Amino acid sequence: MDDSKDSTRGRVSRRGLLKGLGMGAAGTAVAAPALKKTPPTTRVDSGPIPPVRSAKGRVPVTLKVNGGTQKVTVEPRTTLLDVLRDQLDLTGAKLVCNHGSCGACTVHINGKPRYSCMTLALDADGQQITTIEGLTPKTGLTPLQEEFVSHDATMCGFCTPGFIMSLTTFLQENPNPTLEQVKRACQGNTCRCGTYPKIFEATLAAARRTRREA
Ligand code: FES
Ligand code: FES
Repeated sequence: MDDSKDSTRGRVSRRGLLKGLGMGAAGTAVAAPALKKTPPTTRVDSGPIPPVRSAKGRVPVTLKVNGGTQKVTVEPRTTLLDVLRDQLDLTGAKLVCNHGSCGACTVHINGKPRYSCMTLALDADGQQITTIEGLTPKTGLTPLQEEFVSHDATMCGFCTPGFIMSLTTFLQENPNPTLEQVKRACQGNTCRCGTYPKIFEATLAAARRTRREA
């Protein structure tokens, strides 16, 4: 009984195998001419790749930067940060994340801290822009900058201009801040070297000093 079953199973299995091979062969026989008919791949020549930056489409923009007026031409997609750094040689604002998360590019636009990497130069047309170069006195430093130095609040210094720009307006609006308020004011700026405690101390010291000297 068991042998018969095995034998049947064996025959069916062999038949199935042969059927399968037959189908496979048929499939191959059908597919082969189809493959032969496949047209050869042809390269479509779409002409030269257009340049990413083109003189065409550039537009004039007037930027009021650090008390002066600068006329530049830009592509509409150009950021304020790129114009400041690449065309006006104002490299204090730093390009780090380039998408509005680190604050290294912070400048003042009409007196408010703004990420210049997230601001189109076109949108800054006619606005009052101040960079760290314009904020810093011709000789010496602002009280906040001096406190950053004396509190050793910089390591690599890459984030420092952005912090100074943000905290300067913060102190103008909050001359007697608490530590918590200072921490919140720094939320839009990142220091990868981790100098936050010293930045907070320097800011509180600058506030005390400015109140004393007022
Ligand atoms: S470079 Fe602008 S926010 Fe980071
Ligand atoms: S001092 Fe280096 S990132 Fe802040």
